[in-house]
Amino acid sequence: MPVRHAANTVMKSLAEIYSHLPDAPSEKTLERVDYEARHWSSPIQGPLKPGTEEHKRAVAAMFRDTFNPYKPSVIDWPKLDPETLHRITSLPIWDIAVQTEGKARLRMAAYADMITDPDMKDALSRNAWEENRHKEVLTKLVEAYNIPMAPEPPYVTPKDTEWAYLVTGFSECVDSFFAFGLFALAERAGLFPQELIETFEPVMQEECRHILLFANWLAWHRATMPFWKRPWFELRVIGVWLFLAYERMGLARSIDENGEEHTQDNNFTVTGAKDMTTMDISLPDLMQLCLDEDDRRFSGYDPRLLRPTTTPMIARAIIKGAKLWDRVRSKIAA
Ligand SMILES: [Fe+2]
Ligand SMILES: [Fe+2]
Repeated sequence: MPVRHAANTVMKSLAEIYSHLPDAPSEKTLERVDYEARHWSSPIQGPLKPGTEEHKRAVAAMFRDTFNPYKPSVIDWPKLDPETLHRITSLPIWDIAVQTEGKARLRMAAYADMITDPDMKDALSRNAWEENRHKEVLTKLVEAYNIPMAPEPPYVTPKDTEWAYLVTGFSECVDSFFAFGLFALAERAGLFPQELIETFEPVMQEECRHILLFANWLAWHRATMPFWKRPWFELRVIGVWLFLAYERMGLARSIDENGEEHTQDNNFTVTGAKDMTTMDISLPDLMQLCLDEDDRRFSGYDPRLLRPTTTPMIARAIIKGAKLWDRVRSKIAA
């Protein structure tokens, strides 16, 4: 079966699983599912070592059990005052945000389709489904606030499915880490109405679950691949990081219906941080906030499951570097 067709089949069966999401859940149900989406522990005793059946089953169960059944079509978008509306519509992130979710869905579904292990296949297919729901949430927001959008490019099934999945997975690890901090910052500053913050809160937590899954998939994949494949895989991982660094330094361009060129940063973090410069936070403080939020969002999940480590390590290095620089400066000044 061709990859595209097979991926669609997986998505279709998932759409059926989730076709009975509640329209208007009670307050109690909402509280319960929100709690369950943030807390999960495996009943299995002992260590959960990547490569073992126990670890793999726990990862898949975590992803299934923490599913939040919210429905994008019933979100009540709050009416915004002109200033807030302008702040939101002028953020140059909407095109790239919608397209990123669309691409993530396709890439995850394509990769899920390649995996033969039923547990990992199930978890990754669900992840793809959730990316599509993110896209729906964003599409609804764009409609509700009349945000002008560039036409979406066609979503093409990747030729190198593993590479595309690695790029998407590591991108999510980087972007989610910074998004956690920026989201908390925006909330504290009262930059957006509370209802909007509450609408996006489950989406944020979902990204936390996604990168938790990715970190554990990666460990499982490394542990179960034949040893002779490992060097080439590690080279590809390095390649992905180089690609991400290059992509984040570059600018993405898109053309709207009138043929006008829109320039936008290729990630939420840089753009988001620029938009929040009015909030006057130093880079090390922002990094610390990202680290705290990262810890907080992961704290409810079984500590035996692995967490992404590279981006937090970069954040800690930035904090250390800034402290060192301060010390050097004060020595020079003295
Ligand atoms: Fe997403
Ligand atoms: Fe995601």
